[in-house]
Amino acid sequence: MMDSQATNIHWHIGSVARADRERLCGHRGVTIWFTGLSASGKSTLAAATEKALHLRGLHTYILDGDNIRHGLNSNLGFSPADRAENIRRIGEVAKLFRDCGVINLTAFISPYRADRRCARGLADGDTFIEVFVDCPLSICEQRDPKGAYAKARAGIIKEFTGISAPYEPPENQEIRLHTDSISLEEGVEVILAYLETHQLIPKQKMETRHRHPGIFSDCEER
Ligand code: ADX
Repeated sequence: MMDSQATNIHWHIGSVARADRERLCGHRGVTIWFTGLSASGKSTLAAATEKALHLRGLHTYILDGDNIRHGLNSNLGFSPADRAENIRRIGEVAKLFRDCGVINLTAFISPYRADRRCARGLADGDTFIEVFVDCPLSICEQRDPKGAYAKARAGIIKEFTGISAPYEPPENQEIRLHTDSISLEEGVEVILAYLETHQLIPKQKMETRHRHPGIFSDCEER
């Protein structure tokens, strides 16, 4: 964790605790941390998982790399130091969302193990779920929805993850999804089952399962 540069600051304790907010929400404040190469399916999975959770009446929020880099992190590039700062800030924001009692889904490449470890280190043991969105580089490059891989190969984009910058795969992730061989629906089911099994969200009654067959209709499959 970065040391504070300010002095004479004091922590204030409020009268409403995280557990009180979680009780009001009816579930735990949880971070679902998606990590993987560009075009591996992080944003697509995060969006579909959020929609499924939302339809169950749960409180959610997505933090997505491409979006956050337009605002909060617009001053950061893709050097190792800037990526570390990107993930440090998101780790802190995710902690605030957990404190709100919200299920937050983060979709960042987050290529460095040490940076992901820091983000995890801010969480209570069971409320940080790392999802390794595992897709071979060759498939991500074929998908190339933003044309970024082609630009990286041509040297137009520097320090591009998988091409000219490293990706360090997780070693102890909670969930690993091979997005080149499973469907979006299957991926979401695995994540929801994990959350239920670990009592992070209430179990859905059987009769209400699949009540919303259209939930994936506007989620673009990569
Ligand atoms: S991270 O490495 O710092 O976690 P982040 O997830 O925020 O990256 O942003 C990744 C997105 O930025 C990619 O989906 C891609 O669209 C875009 N991007 C632009 N330049 C790069 C680059 N050099 N490496 C990786 N992604 C890049």
